[in-house]
Amino acid sequence: MKILVTSALPYANGDIHLGHLAGAYLPADIYVRYQRLKGRDVVYICGTDEHGVPVTISAEKQNKTPREIVDQYNRSIEESFKKFGMTFDNFSRTTLSVHHRLAQDFFLKIYEKGLIYPREVEQFHCTRCKRFLPDRYIIGTCPKCGNEGARGDQCENCGHWLEPFELIAPRCLICGETPKKTQTKHWYFRLSQFQDKLSSWVADKKDWKETVLTFVRGWLREGLKDRPITRDLSWGVPVPLKDAKGKVLYVWFDAPIGYISSTIEWAEKKGKPDLWKDYWFGKDTKLVHFIGKDNIVFHALIWPAMLMAYGDYVLPSDIPANQFLNLEGGKFSTSKGYAIWLPEYLKDFKSDSLRYALTRNAPEARDTDFTWRDFQVWHNNELADNLGNFVNRTLTFVKKYYDSSVPKASSLTERDNRILDLLKKAPDTIGKRIEKFEFKGGLQEVMRIAQEANRYFDHEEPWSTRKKDPDACAKTMYVCMNIVASLSVLIEPFLPSSAEKIKKMIQPVPHDWDEIGKPEAVRAVGEPSILFEKIADEVVRVQVEKLKKETVDLDYFSKVSLKTAKILTAERVEGTDNLIKCQVELGEQKRQIVAGVGKDYEPGELVGKTIIVVDNLTPAKIKGVLSEGMLLAVVGKKGIVLVTTDKPVSSGTAVR
Ligand code: MF3
Ligand code: ZN
Repeated sequence: MKILVTSALPYANGDIHLGHLAGAYLPADIYVRYQRLKGRDVVYICGTDEHGVPVTISAEKQNKTPREIVDQYNRSIEESFKKFGMTFDNFSRTTLSVHHRLAQDFFLKIYEKGLIYPREVEQFHCTRCKRFLPDRYIIGTCPKCGNEGARGDQCENCGHWLEPFELIAPRCLICGETPKKTQTKHWYFRLSQFQDKLSSWVADKKDWKETVLTFVRGWLREGLKDRPITRDLSWGVPVPLKDAKGKVLYVWFDAPIGYISSTIEWAEKKGKPDLWKDYWFGKDTKLVHFIGKDNIVFHALIWPAMLMAYGDYVLPSDIPANQFLNLEGGKFSTSKGYAIWLPEYLKDFKSDSLRYALTRNAPEARDTDFTWRDFQVWHNNELADNLGNFVNRTLTFVKKYYDSSVPKASSLTERDNRILDLLKKAPDTIGKRIEKFEFKGGLQEVMRIAQEANRYFDHEEPWSTRKKDPDACAKTMYVCMNIVASLSVLIEPFLPSSAEKIKKMIQPVPHDWDEIGKPEAVRAVGEPSILFEKIADEVVRVQVEKLKKETVDLDYFSKVSLKTAKILTAERVEGTDNLIKCQVELGEQKRQIVAGVGKDYEPGELVGKTIIVVDNLTPAKIKGVLSEGMLLAVVGKKGIVLVTTDKPVSSGTAVR
């Protein structure tokens, strides 16, 4: 059997945060590492999803090209994944030509079979921006929950999937204009034709997660509808038809094909360009897609339908989607800057501490919550005091009193056998949990062994038997060294860098999963080092503070329009000692602004200066005088200082 594992291709428009890791990445890595230890033929595929509106909108907001955005995030995502211990066999990108070619081939083949067809449709168009507005370029009020910031494809507040036309009071994301319905042409995928095929295919998937099945059955019950798979955008895979100028494939049509193109790239890099076919066309392949719950419809219905439409390819065997991870009681939010970003985390902490916390608390069946307090407690009490402590006390003891090597024990007690028996069964019990995607449960079993091992150590009291009964002491340490050796492999899928550390401190180490628990005379090598340093309260407090400090992202910040303005006239507001009324020029416009700078400036000093004003502040009356903006100033130690420009600039110029 061949096992082909994928994790959802992350959009190359931002960094990875803990919510992503808990959903589609960490579980897959645990699964794959385990399969490799079992000696199975497994390939693990990923890459960045570099097309679509999420990328173009980020580019627009950051005043960069889509190319710059995807290059930047492809690099940073891949790098932080590596530091986190992810072991993809290939990490690709959907902007590569191998991917473009394959995605176009997919489209054409399905088109030629009559399963893709054009349709004249109405679409929102912005007259000010002079462009069609694909779904996420429109925001408005959600018809289901009333959220005023709902996107044209989905409301992030209530999760409702929608069409742009359903939005109440729609507006253009870029300029705020009310868009107009305009005629255009798009190509549709005949998803409706796959209703029966998909239904009977899903009917066989009895052991899929209940959460996934419920979702899928719900969609099937409502009846599948044909879906538009092209967009009016200049960034993406061009639609390979003559009459489709300026159209690209919808990102959700091309992205999953990225799983295949990444496998092709992998095979090419290996110098065996046809090897990918053994996996994608093999009858004997188990294809497993790890995703978060927001991706279920695409992976469990639309993607399999695309594969069926094309023909020949294997269909997914399982789609172990996870629920969501929340953060300190709130939702992760990229736009509000409410998240813990992986690159930030890795600056302060070790990858295994996070792998542990995220698995210990995995959102496998329902949403869970990440808190820094749990993170600290679990690290200190479980990793350091339980696992780390057992390994360390065993190795230091053996190093100190046995010059690192304990002989094989000749006779064992019932208690010894009991714990050795636990080790013998561990590969099977833990392996079964992992194969059922119960990573939380698997990790629990591993930690139970460490706990039993500490109890065993305490009960055996080697520190006192050392003199009273040297044989008993040697036997205890022989057993403990075997536990350490087994743990070094059992923890590897979950805590790979700690596993690595232990393996450097002992000899020999089981080669693979099925050798775990086979007793041997295990020696200590080199100096024992501490596996997990405790995390202090102070360190965690800083992290919690960081989250509380409200951050704004570019989207939010860019709502404030700052412009240069030239002060034409200035006079004091009667009856006040600090207010000055200024007439300012903002390009073509004139405005009146009341500023509280009268204690530090005379009106005459102000005239002629170019200052920075908030251009879109709601007008207000100050002491009865109208103010249509606000100027920027520094409140310094010696009074107020106006913010001006370094070189002359004409008034009305945007400040970014
Ligand atoms: N980029 C998508 C997301 O982050 C996931 C794409 S998965 C793929 O939600 F299958 F399309 F690649
Ligand atoms: Zn517009």
